[in-house]
Amino acid sequence: MKVLTVVNNAGGVGKTSLVQNIGYEFAQAGLRVMLIDGDRQANLTSWNGIFEVEEEDTLHPIVASKKAPLPRPKHVHGMDLIPSFWDLGDTEKIAATLELRDALRDRLTELHGQWDVVLFDSPPAMGQLTTMAAIASDFLIVPISTRLKGVEALQGVTKFLTDIRNYNPKLEIAMFVPTMFDGRRNSDKEAYQFMQEQIPANMLASPVPERLKFWDAAAKEGKPVTLYAPHSPVAEDVRRLAAEIAAAIGVELGVRTGTDGEA
Ligand SMILES: Nc1ncnc2c1ncn2[C@@H]1O[C@H](COP(=O)(O)OP(=O)(O)OP(=O)(O)O)[C@@H](O)[C@H]1O
Ligand SMILES: [Mg+2]
Repeated sequence: MKVLTVVNNAGGVGKTSLVQNIGYEFAQAGLRVMLIDGDRQANLTSWNGIFEVEEEDTLHPIVASKKAPLPRPKHVHGMDLIPSFWDLGDTEKIAATLELRDALRDRLTELHGQWDVVLFDSPPAMGQLTTMAAIASDFLIVPISTRLKGVEALQGVTKFLTDIRNYNPKLEIAMFVPTMFDGRRNSDKEAYQFMQEQIPANMLASPVPERLKFWDAAAKEGKPVTLYAPHSPVAEDVRRLAAEIAAAIGVELGVRTGTDGEA
C-alpha cells in the first residue's frame, strides 16, 4: 500500500483535481484506491457528487478519539472516499491541541493491504491535518502552478518535508507537477524552465496544460475529467500524468477495466 499526500500551501494549483483524477485513473487500471478529503472546502467530496456528509463520515472521529476506527468510506466512481464537510476546520483545531499526529498512520497501518494507493487531498495550508497525513505517507506529490508566483511554493514544500522527516524519516517527494501551463505565455515558459533547473528530471512531471472548460465542467458534473470527457485532450493529459506518477511511486498500472466504475 502506497500512501500519498498531495500538498502545496498555495491555493488553486490543482491539488484536488490531481487527487480525484489520478485516483480515478489508478482505479480504472485495476488498483484499489482510497481518497481522503482533508480540506474543509470539501471540493474532492462534492466534485465526486457527494453532498450528504455527517461528521462521523469524515476524518473527525479518528482525530477526536484515539480509539475510533477509520470511518467506512463512501464508494464512488470505483474508488473509496473519506469525505470532508464544512466543519472540518474544527477537527483541524482539535488535532492541534492533542497528540494526534499519528492517528491516520496508525489507522492505515491496521488496514494495511486493503488499498493499493491512498491519496490525501490537503487544504491550501500545511496545518495539522496535512501534517497528520504526511506522517502517514510514503510520498508527497506537489502540484505547482506555472502561473505568476507559482514557483515560490517550492521553498515552503521543502521546509515542510524537512519538518515531517523528524517524525517520518522515510517520507519522500515523488513528483512535482507543473499545472495550469499555457505554452503561449512567456511567464509560464519561464516558470517551467525554472522548475527544470531546480528539480531533477525524474521528479518533474510533464506540464499539465490549462484547459479550463473541461476541468470545471467535470467538477460541476461530479465526475473525474476522464469520465466526463474520455476522448478529449484533457483525458490524454491525465493518463500521461497517471503513468508518470505510477512510475515515480513504483506501482504498476494494469489493464483498464473499461467501465466507469459506478458499481
Ligand atoms: N489543468 C487545468 N486547467 C484548467 N483548470 C484547471 C486545471 N486543473 C484544475 N483546474 C481548475 O482550477 C481550479 C483549481 O483547481 P483545484 O481546486 O484542483 O486546486 P487546489 O489546489 O485543490 O485548490 P485549493 O487550494 O483551493 O484546494 C478548479 O476550478 C479546477 O477545476
Ligand atoms: Mg483543493
